Amino acid sequence: MGPAAYRTAGLIDVIAELGHTVVDHGDIRPASLLPLPMAHPNPALRNLPEIAAWTRAIADAVWRAGDAGLTICLGGDHSLSAGTLAGRARLCADSGRELFVLWLDAHTDFHTLDSSVSGNLHGVPLAYACGLPGFAGYFPDLRARVDPANVCLMGLRSVDASERRAIARSSAITHDMRAIDEHGLAPLLRAFLERVADAGGVLHVSLDVDFLDPAIAPAVGTTVPGGATVREAHLIMEMLCDSNLVGSLDLAELNPFLDERGRTATLMVDLVASLLGRRVLDRPTREFT
Ligand code: ARG
Ligand code: MN
Ligand code: MN
Ligand code: MN
Repeated sequence: MGPAAYRTAGLIDVIAELGHTVVDHGDIRPASLLPLPMAHPNPALRNLPEIAAWTRAIADAVWRAGDAGLTICLGGDHSLSAGTLAGRARLCADSGRELFVLWLDAHTDFHTLDSSVSGNLHGVPLAYACGLPGFAGYFPDLRARVDPANVCLMGLRSVDASERRAIARSSAITHDMRAIDEHGLAPLLRAFLERVADAGGVLHVSLDVDFLDPAIAPAVGTTVPGGATVREAHLIMEMLCDSNLVGSLDLAELNPFLDERGRTATLMVDLVASLLGRRVLDRPTREFT
């Protein structure tokens, strides 16, 4: 239902009105609709063969879309990023550009198939794309992985114990809500964007609806209080727009069934607009001190 809700909320018109050409590739479907059952030692895992099939289909579609424009993937839950990251990593391996990932989420989604307690595969995509062990034979083999040192997570406020250990062992950059409260978003994001620019890299942004505070974005199954405000989220998108580094974007975890008069979908569309150039005022050409 997510992609339909974004279309209803006017996503395509909003992007077009900002002067961009939009190519809607339609909804992706896995090639095999009835995947074979897959046995895994972790009995909690839910919908493993289906998600594996989706991951392959999404990775192929993202790879085929190429890197000439900006690719936006509408979800659907965050397991979709297993596919988008795999596809983008493969494109970067082809072109020789370095891939960076900005993960905007209350959660790290850094479980392996073995460590997941809930069994919800929206909890594993970042670990899979970074090449953590245990996915072989279940999820599609990665053509190229994401270097965890090139990943920056922001907005964290719900991390399971095993994920906390795994993310600490990785070299990913992690900014929890405390870091955002202490320093503000802007300097944290600016430091990361400078790294991406210095490396001549391309950035993938993965935006989970639960990055936002539930008071402004109720349409998600995994709400956690204390999330980003409307203003913080727009600031991120505006800084990303100015950076000119973003090559792809995931909009993950929108559950329109849980929305209130479409306000979460509308906010997400407004955030995309900020990322793609919508401004309140024309920016002055010089900074005033
Ligand atoms: N860590 C928890 C789990 O594995 C929550 C994951 C939430 N992730 C998300 N994409 N909503 O179930
Ligand atoms: Mn989910
Ligand atoms: Mn997530
Ligand atoms: Mn989340």
